[in-house]
Amino acid sequence: MKKFSEVYLKKLHIGNITADSNVLMAPLAGYTSYPFRRMCRKLGAGLAFTEMVSANGLKYNDRATAKLLYTDEAETLKAVQLLGSVPSAFEYACKGEYTADYDIVDINMGCPVPNIIKSGEGCALTRDLPLASEIIEACKRSGKVVTVKFRPGMNRKNIVVSEFAKMCEASGADMITVHGRTRDMMYDGEPLYECIEAAKNAVNIPVIANGGIYSEEDAVKMMDRTGADGVMIARYGMENPMIFSELTGKETGETKYSLMMEQINIAQSCFDETAAMDYIRKLASYFMKKIPGTKALKQEMYMCGNMQELRNVTEKIFGETEKQDA
Ligand SMILES: Cc1cc2nc3c(=O)[nH]c(=O)nc-3n(C[C@H](O)[C@H](O)[C@H](O)COP(=O)(O)O)c2cc1C
Repeated sequence: MKKFSEVYLKKLHIGNITADSNVLMAPLAGYTSYPFRRMCRKLGAGLAFTEMVSANGLKYNDRATAKLLYTDEAETLKAVQLLGSVPSAFEYACKGEYTADYDIVDINMGCPVPNIIKSGEGCALTRDLPLASEIIEACKRSGKVVTVKFRPGMNRKNIVVSEFAKMCEASGADMITVHGRTRDMMYDGEPLYECIEAAKNAVNIPVIANGGIYSEEDAVKMMDRTGADGVMIARYGMENPMIFSELTGKETGETKYSLMMEQINIAQSCFDETAAMDYIRKLASYFMKKIPGTKALKQEMYMCGNMQELRNVTEKIFGETEKQDA
């Protein structure tokens, strides 16, 4: 089998920014918080995006929305994703203090969730190219590097991937990511490789391929089939973030145990105890997905009343699996 790091690994030039690798961690609502993004970057991800943040929420100074943007100087190359449908709200959000530390603004034009579509946001924008273009131009007026993540269309009868990619480039986007599934496919099914390939053939800016990558073999297949400039991994990045070191050939010596312990420390430094515990439980559950016989330990994790107890249980779970693996 071809090794991704030998055949496809490269630096990614996005506007005036260079990312060290073309293997990216996707935005995932509820998961890609500051600690998680730091872990992915350390393991070799060229970029790791915040979860989608409402441009309107930032405009109206919503505190819960602003909290999603926590970052500090230890996170280098910061990429925020915004969601919305009003160009002036995007412009305000990109120029405002909440996103001031962020180098890259990604625009969500792929979210398939019914409420979002009803509001004309996310994937609904693939039906309205003039509005999508206005949004990109509004973000560009902030002077930040702007990227767009979208799907090929609402369904397989209405594929707009080539025209949409061209519109993004003409409006000033510095990179696009194509999630190779139409809106009606939601998150399942084989990605439409030919749609990602069509986007790549339509523009000169970098094109990143996303969807269904669960192994190095999948990542290589994605590159073979689409000719894309890089890959973006979402759900498998939560389950096994070491995929980033695997694909980039970055030797970090990290294990699930060492990563978990570090994540606990970082989460404690930036979240209150309740939020830190929520995050660690979610992350540990994802990390344990393929480890047999962990049901009782998972239950124990959810019984913990404070962070010290949770740290002890997590240490036990991942310390033991590490011994078994050794
Ligand atoms: C729980 C969950 C949350 C997601 N949140 C976002 C988001 O905030 N922004 C976004 O652009 N895509 C979001 N996505 C889509 C992913 O970024 C990605 O495009 C999709 O999961 C396909 O990649 P995968 O097959 O590697 O998981 C989300 C997906 C899931 C399952």
